[in-house]
Amino acid sequence: MQKTIITALIILSAVAGCTKKEEATTTSTPPAAATATTGGGDIGVGPVSSVTLEAELKADLVKNGHDLFAAKCAACHKVDERYVGPAIKGVTERRKPEWIMNMILNPQEMTQKDPVAQELLGEYMTQMTFQNVTQDEARAILEYFRSIDKK
Ligand code: HEC
Repeated sequence: MQKTIITALIILSAVAGCTKKEEATTTSTPPAAATATTGGGDIGVGPVSSVTLEAELKADLVKNGHDLFAAKCAACHKVDERYVGPAIKGVTERRKPEWIMNMILNPQEMTQKDPVAQELLGEYMTQMTFQNVTQDEARAILEYFRSIDKK
């Protein structure tokens, strides 16, 4: 008789333990999902919320972007190697197009508010500066960056 009670108690406590565990997992789900939503956007902070890219590169934009890069960015960036800032090669694979344009147009706020840009500032220890480029010019530079990564 006593054995039955003990067995029943063991089963009961096992069941209670299970229920507790389930509760714990359900309560921890909402915050995790919320982080995924805000962190999963990855378009950065700035004026660009959406960019439409075509599969085919636009040659005039690539050329214009190349010239702008040489004039305004090459003091700190090289294509193939780390310099004052990161190597440009592969950036279109690492980041979303919107993020890249926001980094070009709004670098100060990006390094303050965007977690990835913050991390880069921590690594490179130099604040990227806004180079007086318009949104169209930033779009051309993005096309040039895409041409680098297509090769
Ligand atoms: C004063 C030096 C400087 C200039 C000028 C500069 N950058 Fe930067 N750039 C940096 C640094 C340093 C970082 C890393 C973030 C930080 O520390 O601010 C960076 C980050 C970036 C990133 C992100 C790279 C990655 O791996 O995610 C892009 C894209 C970029 N710069 C593009 C440009 C473009 C385009 C221009 C010209 C319009 C430019 N930068 C001008 C220094 C510079």
